[in-house]
Amino acid sequence: MNQLLTQIEKYKEDIKAFEVKSPDDLEAFRIKYLGSKGLVKIIMGEMKNVPAEQKKEAGQLLNEFKIFTESFYENLAQSVGGPSNKSVSNIDTSLPGDALPLGARHPISIVHNKIISIFQRLGFSVAEGPEIEDDWHNFTALNLPENHPARDMQDTFYISQNPDWLLRTHTSSVQIREMAKGVLPLRIICPGRVYRNETISARAHCFFHQVEGLYIAENVSFADLKQTLYFFVKEMFGENVKVRFRPSYFPFTEPSAEMDISCLICEGKGCNVCKKTGWVEILGCGMVHPKVLENCGIDSNKYTGFAFGMGIERITMLNYQVKDLRLFSENDVRFLKQFTGA
Ligand code: PHE
Repeated sequence: MNQLLTQIEKYKEDIKAFEVKSPDDLEAFRIKYLGSKGLVKIIMGEMKNVPAEQKKEAGQLLNEFKIFTESFYENLAQSVGGPSNKSVSNIDTSLPGDALPLGARHPISIVHNKIISIFQRLGFSVAEGPEIEDDWHNFTALNLPENHPARDMQDTFYISQNPDWLLRTHTSSVQIREMAKGVLPLRIICPGRVYRNETISARAHCFFHQVEGLYIAENVSFADLKQTLYFFVKEMFGENVKVRFRPSYFPFTEPSAEMDISCLICEGKGCNVCKKTGWVEILGCGMVHPKVLENCGIDSNKYTGFAFGMGIERITMLNYQVKDLRLFSENDVRFLKQFTGA
């Protein structure tokens, strides 16, 4: 007990002798005596060594010492003009704050949204369907019966538990589902992810994104198809882009065509992207084959329709001059943060 008293007296002398001339000195005082590892805390810890009958007295002594130190600190603080709070005093609160890093949409999403909004303005509505499809919706109903050689164009992945299930190779499967509902006329676009058994390279991937479109009504003609796609190209790529149709083949359309636009990179002069032809293919299209309409229970004598389908990656590559489509799925932020748009 006496020992404690002497100790406290000694500390008091030290405290009185502590020279405080600046806020920094004040902070040193606070740390030495009142900090979480300061002497006041340490000496308070001595309580546990004090015999029970002296605890009350010792408690008073220690408490007094604590109050003495705290009020001494308050006085010192006033004499140097307030406590030193380094972390606060060095901050210039008038400076603007640090900007939070902003996320950006994925380029595929930007182009996907733009394509959809163009067709929505023409009265198309969005239809979606499953990525795991059955053989009927992905192939057979589209006039691609089993063993049809054109199935080779779209080799896919099958689900091992059920040989009838596969990953859809195009969103034409969604068009079959919508036609089968029997509500006509029908004017839809079908965006979504599709899969193909391709070796991954700069120009091909085992998955990519499509937007397909379908319009079924009475008296729909190839002229309607062309006008719709002309409008799309002007809205998407601007007034100056040229368009051409080439005859092509798809089992689900007759006649079928592929549509090219003048190369955006060299403006038709010829470069690597257009393989020196001045043209790049952007979509497949045609008049819906009567067999496809009949497969969905639609009277092909009364109704006709057109369909088209495009790859979003292909259009995004042209739009932003991206040379390797693998970049879209690698999630490298340095690549992704370069794109802006709605
Ligand atoms: N489904 C075709 C494909 O994925 C595209 C297409 C759609 C072509 C509609 C013609 C008509 O390649």
